[in-house]
Amino acid sequence: MRTPIVLPACLLVFLASASSSAHQAASQHPFAQTENFAPEPKSVAVIGAGAAGTSFAYLLRQAVPDTDAKITILEATSRIGGRASSIEFEGASIEIGASIFLKENEHLYNASKRFNLTLVSSSTEPKSGSDDRWGIWSTVDRSFRFVSSTSSKLTLARMVWRYGFRAPYEVSRLARQAAASFGRGAYSVPATTPVPPTLAGLIADFKLVAYASQLGRPFLGVNDLYLDEIVASAMRVNYGQDLHADLPALPPLISMAAATGEVTAVENGNQQIFEHFAVNAEASIHFEKRVTEIELVNSTSKPYKVSTADGATAYYDAVAIAVPNPPFKLVNIARQPTIHPYVQLHVTLVAGTAPNPSYFGANPPERILTCMDAVPAPGAHRFNSISHLGNGTYKIFSPAEPSPEQLAQWFKPVPTVVAHYKWGAYPVFGTDAAGAAQDQPVMLDDQLFYLNAFEHIFSTMESQTAVAKRVASYVAEWILSES
Ligand SMILES: Cc1cc2nc3c(=O)[nH]c(=O)nc-3n(C[C@H](O)[C@H](O)[C@H](O)COP(=O)(O)OP(=O)(O)OC[C@H]3O[C@@H](n4cnc5c(N)ncnc54)[C@H](O)[C@@H]3O)c2cc1C
Ligand SMILES: *[C@@H]1O[C@H](CO)[C@@H](O)[C@H](O)[C@H]1NC(C)=O
Ligand SMILES: *[C@@H]1O[C@H](CO)[C@@H](O)[C@H](O)[C@H]1NC(C)=O
Ligand SMILES: *[C@@H]1O[C@H](CO)[C@@H](O)[C@H](O)[C@H]1NC(C)=O
Ligand SMILES: *[C@@H]1O[C@H](CO)[C@@H](O)[C@H](O)[C@H]1NC(C)=O
Repeated sequence: MRTPIVLPACLLVFLASASSSAHQAASQHPFAQTENFAPEPKSVAVIGAGAAGTSFAYLLRQAVPDTDAKITILEATSRIGGRASSIEFEGASIEIGASIFLKENEHLYNASKRFNLTLVSSSTEPKSGSDDRWGIWSTVDRSFRFVSSTSSKLTLARMVWRYGFRAPYEVSRLARQAAASFGRGAYSVPATTPVPPTLAGLIADFKLVAYASQLGRPFLGVNDLYLDEIVASAMRVNYGQDLHADLPALPPLISMAAATGEVTAVENGNQQIFEHFAVNAEASIHFEKRVTEIELVNSTSKPYKVSTADGATAYYDAVAIAVPNPPFKLVNIARQPTIHPYVQLHVTLVAGTAPNPSYFGANPPERILTCMDAVPAPGAHRFNSISHLGNGTYKIFSPAEPSPEQLAQWFKPVPTVVAHYKWGAYPVFGTDAAGAAQDQPVMLDDQLFYLNAFEHIFSTMESQTAVAKRVASYVAEWILSES
């Protein structure tokens, strides 16, 4: 059976309304006169309850603990987590969206500890030294270009034999360096008063300038064989796209940081971090509230009119949009968000099967990744990765929904399809000139923010949380200065 693992919506709403009424009680003054002097509490709307929206709400509450600021989360679906989503299958939890983060990702790691969540080591990425084997498959040649060994020493020897000593070492070093640089930038508290967030400002703040405006292939600077096989396979499994010539350096560095670093995941689903963020934000959480329009109206108080698909409207002082490519109108707003195409990714879970030996040969590895071929197969590559989750259950990432014929070709016996999801997964990287891409609005108008403006630079749960932190600090400063 597949049942989405979510905190019951009724519990969330109960917790949220209980805490917001406590806030209201605290703001009631015994005498009418004093009420005239007390400024009205600020109200902040958060659109979208994924990593960015829930962490924004939580971090904002942390930054304004003693105010009566009202935080309202509007979420189109009936669950929290957005692209962090897991299902239950045969008693186990399976991530069908964002599955891993680095242990050095302090926002997510610290939050998991704070909320008493259990971290497990999850490895859906190629990782030398792990018990299960991974291989790089060519859909054109229909053969494995590289297969790891269960012995990490042997894997390293095979890598050096095929790619030379320098390439694996150098790319891993650059990836570690980029992750460390991001950490130094993102986790230091800026000494100065928060400035209005801009994309270029966030890139500088997160110490990513050296990477964001460089192209990936020349930046990595190692042999094409390593780039096309190892780095491209990591790009495909992490970002559903190839290491093409105009791809910036950050996406492959992030993919290789996941492949070479220490990764972790929350037992029974990463979305639990975001459920805890939402509950601890003391926010009112409204599910099935699909925002259809935000309008700036001529009013000094609560100038943002937010309309939802159910015909309701409400007014707010500040709004954080935490939805990629906002699918709603922005009326009278100074700057419109820049729209970026997203990769359409299909995630398919199949059970009761094994890789077909007449297609993949005998004894294929647990994780089958795919490489970039000089001449793509007609109809492009058919899958990005096939990972064994245990007990005959496999997770397939592919650019289109696998057809019954493809499943019969890849697996034997013919598998049972347990679940299929289609995501607007991540931005297509590298479609803008690097300079232009950094000149896109995060603050669309006074106290109106677009948190997913950062995603075409860096798209992970941690980076979205880091952006949320910076914007929350800015909004908090404003709330405190006005109260
Ligand atoms: C298959 C897959 C694998 C991934 N793997 C990883 C990984 O291993 N590690 C990692 O760090 N990242 C991974 N990512 C990327 C990661 O999931 C995202 O970067 C991150 O979760 C984005 O969070 P977000 O809050 O910005 O957006 P989202 O999670 O997309 O949240 C947006 C929310 O807004 C809601 N919404 C949409 N429209 C409206 C509307 N009109 N009104 C109100 N609400 C609306 C949506 O329902 C959703 O809940 C993966 C993504 C996918 C798809
Ligand atoms: C976390 O777990 C520990 C030990 O199991 C317990 O003592 C503590 O109260 C828990 N904290 C929270 C916030 O639930
Ligand atoms: C995470 O926790 C560690 C250890 O308590 C602390 O030093 C660090 O500053 C925290 N990071 C963030 C971003 O809060
Ligand atoms: C906004 O309203 C004020 C009075 O409330 C009025 O003086 C002003 O002209 C209005 N501005 C616009 C652009 O409508
Ligand atoms: C393994 O899979 C079979 C059938 O696919 C199922 O009946 C069984 O419960 C599973 N076992 C475990 C331990 O998940």
